[in-house]
Amino acid sequence: STPLRIAVAGLGTVGAGTLRLLSENAEAIAARAGRAVQVTAVSARDRTRDRGIDLSGYQWFDDPVEMAARADADVMVELIGGSEGPAKEAVEAALSAGRSVVTANKALLAHHGTALARQAEGAGCTIGYEAAVAGGIPIIKGLREGLAGNRISRVYGILNGTCNYILTQMSDGGGPGANPIERQDFDAVLAEAQRLGYAEADPGFDIDGVDTAHKLAILTALAFGCEVDFDAVYVEGIRNVSALDVAYAEELGYCIKLLGVAQQVNGAVEQRVHPCMVRKGQPIASVDGVFNAVVADGDFVDTTMYEGRGAGAGPTASAVVADLIDIARGATLPVFGIAASGLRRLPTLPMERH
Ligand code: NDP
Ligand code: HSE
Repeated sequence: STPLRIAVAGLGTVGAGTLRLLSENAEAIAARAGRAVQVTAVSARDRTRDRGIDLSGYQWFDDPVEMAARADADVMVELIGGSEGPAKEAVEAALSAGRSVVTANKALLAHHGTALARQAEGAGCTIGYEAAVAGGIPIIKGLREGLAGNRISRVYGILNGTCNYILTQMSDGGGPGANPIERQDFDAVLAEAQRLGYAEADPGFDIDGVDTAHKLAILTALAFGCEVDFDAVYVEGIRNVSALDVAYAEELGYCIKLLGVAQQVNGAVEQRVHPCMVRKGQPIASVDGVFNAVVADGDFVDTTMYEGRGAGAGPTASAVVADLIDIARGATLPVFGIAASGLRRLPTLPMERH
């Protein structure tokens, strides 16, 4: 059988992780996909950078947009990042050329998801974005396929590994006997999250709640079958959460988590991101470090919860490759679970703090 040929734009944390996974697990992937998944072309900014992977067998492009249009590939994998610029142009160019896209770029989908889904489905292609929400947790497949028969009333969770890592380090979850860190150490914990490859290129997106809001907007579209509406999300991050706040919350039997919450009430949608007091003993309270968790309530399935590593090279590559295997198998799932032409904008509920 003919291999699925892929072009990979972006060879940083996720791109390099994806190439490593495709190479190390090539046999298992081919068995599951029914054919080999073969990288044919790659693109990044700096051709000379040592990425710890052998790129000699791939066609190199300085320009990811040119690669998306011209590479000898069936699928373009976009792992550059950013809602505008080369990432968006490369995805549009790939779809225009009739190639399906796999991306980890939640910023792009939060801002342009509906338009891109329409473009993809109009071209007979699809966009895989399992990696864009909650890293290695298969939450896109969970909502789109696993819960497809349900009416979803609410979806919420810890959607940013960097913030959860920081909040955990600020709490007694940072390790046995760990003291709440002093405020001035916030930057040191963030630097560690950056070193581990968890944070966004601009970590303000993480700590100010924007990345969580990007992911929430995507989950909302998927859960409720509506347009992606990032501007409707209320957003507040963890910049103003102090070690003292964390310590007081703990004394009262709570921990502080940055949650994204979307719920549907009487046909309108409320989407909000802010730090929440979560009572210890609740399942989500014990989700620590880089781990994410998503809870979805369906009318027949009842409450479901999904947990796993929300960021980092391995978990994110795992999600990228899952999408590639789907495409290799011939899946042409509607991007947001219903035909993109049928996505409607739902009214927004005024934000209420609970
Ligand atoms: P990195 O910053 O590590 O990598 C970005 C890559 O894009 C680099 O290889 C860089 O090239 C390349 N790049 C940047 N600009 C251009 C350009 N103009 N032309 C060609 N290549 C370019 O980011 P990550 O791997 O961390 O993230 C990639 C995407 O995945 C983002 O959308 C991010 O939000 C998302 N994501 C990240 C996760 C994580 O844990 N890190 C988890 C889930 C999603 P060069 O190396 O030469 O500088
Ligand atoms: N910066 C993101 C996070 C990467 O920390 O969750 C995963 O989307």
